[in-house]
Amino acid sequence: MNETDWYALLLKMWFGLSGVVFLLLLFITAPYGRHARKGWGPSLPSSVGWVLMEAPAAFLFASFFLLAGKPLDAATWIFFSLWELHYIHRAFIYPFLRGGKPRPMPVLIVSFGFFFNLVNVYLNGRYLTAFSPGYPNRWMMDPRFVLGLLMFLVGFVINRHSDAVLARLRAHGVGGYQVPAGGFYRFVSSPNYLGEMFEWFGFAIATWSAAGLAFAVWTAANLIPRAISHHRWYRRSFPEYPAERKAIIPFLW
Ligand SMILES: NC(=O)c1ccc[n+]([C@@H]2O[C@H](COP(=O)([O-])OP(=O)(O)OC[C@H]3O[C@@H](n4cnc5c(N)ncnc54)[C@H](OP(=O)(O)O)[C@@H]3O)[C@@H](O)[C@H]2O)c1
Repeated sequence: MNETDWYALLLKMWFGLSGVVFLLLLFITAPYGRHARKGWGPSLPSSVGWVLMEAPAAFLFASFFLLAGKPLDAATWIFFSLWELHYIHRAFIYPFLRGGKPRPMPVLIVSFGFFFNLVNVYLNGRYLTAFSPGYPNRWMMDPRFVLGLLMFLVGFVINRHSDAVLARLRAHGVGGYQVPAGGFYRFVSSPNYLGEMFEWFGFAIATWSAAGLAFAVWTAANLIPRAISHHRWYRRSFPEYPAERKAIIPFLW
């Protein structure tokens, strides 16, 4: 089996597995953060966990571009910049901005996150630098590129702003949970997840690629069940929780 066949098979399997993981996560909430519980093996400090999980997504993706061995189109470099914009922040800045006291994260979760990133990096990095037919300059005028780029940037701002609201609740070493307010928290309980999904569906549209779509679908498979769990948890924990606030889709759900 050559790499093209192997790549196509992996892509199909990856789409299939996302459906299985989505169903599993509806019943088993990933045991970190407020949903942490005993019985999931050894843990490490969550800041270390975030760096270990997310750093490969920044470094390995960059290595595909460095080793491409051919000139890449301007649009492809824009995709590279979007990816690195997200992952340099997620791997090396976000873990140290979260505030509060150090918290444990199961090694199992870190391992899943690491594996998730490895496959997504391979599928997307290899597609953009080797298997894609290329993106001529006129692609940057295509409505799919423009819409996808806008979605990514809007999602990035929503994600960053929403994570910053949470970090402020933990400023000065304050522990525990409070009801977040402002920004997209007016509409949903987990706007950071909504922003993240916007980013990667935008990336999929801008690259118009199955690899991008697989990553977006996996992001939704991870984050929609978790947003539902967060929403239920907020309603259980805070009797005054705003009744009009939805879980993840403004005004709907
Ligand atoms: N692409 C993907 O598949 C994927 C998967 C997972 C996460 N992510 C992204 O990674 C980031 C973090 O994810 P996460 O699952 O850790 O998000 P989260 O559950 O919203 O928590 C984010 C941070 O805020 C704190 N926090 C949450 N709610 C709080 C509240 N009501 N009061 C005070 N502090 C609060 C959390 O503390 P605790 O840790 O103590 O709960 C944590 O430090 C998000 O931007 C998310 O989109 C992406």
